[in-house]
Amino acid sequence: MVQSTGPKKTKCAVFISGRGSNLKSLIEFSKKKNSPISIELIISDNSKSKGLKYAKIFKIRKKIFNYRNNSFNEKKIIRELNYYNIKFVCLAGFMKILSKEFIKNFKGKILNIHPSLLPKYKGLNTHHRVISNNEKYSGCTVHFVNSRLDSGKIILQKKVKISKTDTANSLKKKILFQEHKLYPKAIRKVFNL
Ligand code: GAR
Repeated sequence: MVQSTGPKKTKCAVFISGRGSNLKSLIEFSKKKNSPISIELIISDNSKSKGLKYAKIFKIRKKIFNYRNNSFNEKKIIRELNYYNIKFVCLAGFMKILSKEFIKNFKGKILNIHPSLLPKYKGLNTHHRVISNNEKYSGCTVHFVNSRLDSGKIILQKKVKISKTDTANSLKKKILFQEHKLYPKAIRKVFNL
C-alpha cells in the first residue's frame, strides 16, 4: 500500500507511447477532489504520441525521452522525476521495458495496465492472440511493475465476455472502455481508499 500524503495529493507521472486514452482518464480522475494523485508530468518515449496533446489541453508538463540509449535516458528520467518530487508512476500504454535499476528507484510505486487477464497473454498483440485461441473471456489487469514483463503483483482485474462476432478490434474497444474505469479504481485501492 502507498501512504497517502493526507489532504495533499501524491505527485504522479504518467508514461505513454501512443494514443493516451488511459492518460486522459487518469487526468480526469486526478482532478476529482477525492483522488489521491495529481498528475504533474507526462513522459513519452515517442514525440509523435497522440496522447501528448493532453499535456497542452490540461496544462501538464511533458518530457520526451528518446529510448535508443536506455540507461542514459533512464538516468535523465529519474533526475526529472526527482526534480518534480514525483512519488508515483503510472504506465499507460508505455511500450518500453523499464530497467531493474529504474524499478528499484520507485519500488512498489509503479503501476501498469495491461489488456488481458494476466497471467494470461503477457506481451504484445494480446487481442489477436485471444481471438485466435477462441477464448470466451478476456479483460484487463492493473498490476505493480517488477523487473519481469507483465508479471508484478495484480491489483485489480476486470473480465470482459467475448462474443462470437468480436474481432481483435472490437475486443480492443470493449476492453479499453473497461481499462478507463479500472485504472482509477486500482489507484484508489493502492492508496487504501
Ligand atoms: C491499452 O490498451 C493498454 O492496456 C495497452 O496499450 C493500450 C494503450 O492505449 N498496454 C499494453 O499493452 C502494455 N503492455 P492508450 O494509449 O489509449 O491508453
